[in-house]
Amino acid sequence: TVADLKGIKRGRLRLGVVTTAKYFVPRVLGSFCQRYPDVDIALQVTNHQKLVRRMQENLDDLYILSQPPTDIDLNTHRVLENPLVVIAHRDHPLAKKSHIALKQLQDVPFIMRESGSGTRRAVQQLFNQYKINVQVRLELGSNEAIKQAIAGGLGISILSQHTLNTEGDRSELAILNVQHFPIQTHWYAGYVRGKQLSVITQTFLDYLLAESPKITLPHSLEQSMKSA
Ligand code: PGA
Repeated sequence: TVADLKGIKRGRLRLGVVTTAKYFVPRVLGSFCQRYPDVDIALQVTNHQKLVRRMQENLDDLYILSQPPTDIDLNTHRVLENPLVVIAHRDHPLAKKSHIALKQLQDVPFIMRESGSGTRRAVQQLFNQYKINVQVRLELGSNEAIKQAIAGGLGISILSQHTLNTEGDRSELAILNVQHFPIQTHWYAGYVRGKQLSVITQTFLDYLLAESPKITLPHSLEQSMKSA
């Protein structure tokens, strides 16, 4: 477009991100938009499976997710670590233990993300590897709803540690110190290869790669370790 040729940062940026990434992407967008007030952002937040469908249909300029599909030709850049942790109510009996064997997760009710979730897939991979069968009491399609269910005493779950960044000092949630955790994953920013990147998309990608190292993990881990 003419705006691109002139290098003017004006126009629309369409982003598609997985639900775990919504805990940091809007913050980066906030400062980006202050710098480039003429950029309109459309942000789609969905689970892994739905995001992959959007890629296949080429609906967005840039995607952020933890498990880039191998059957789509993507150009990816590693953005930030996305550790998956076991979360329980802070009064849960397991929250008092300093070392929990993976097998012990089989003995307590478990809350699982919906099928199609990348978080669920990573969890399932670990459980398959060690032949763990948890008792799924509840399936929920939202990280926030799962946190509420944990707080309500319905069970424990495994979520991105970043989902705790909305928890304050008085959070009812604790990270459990379980063998093989955290599951270390990373977010990647990617675009469909062969797609001509607009100046705005390239500018945002550069900005994201520069800003994301400054993002810190929520500190609930230290709190729960200290109380252990
Ligand atoms: P999701 O996120 O569980 O919302 O699908 C997966 C990911 O972090 O890529």
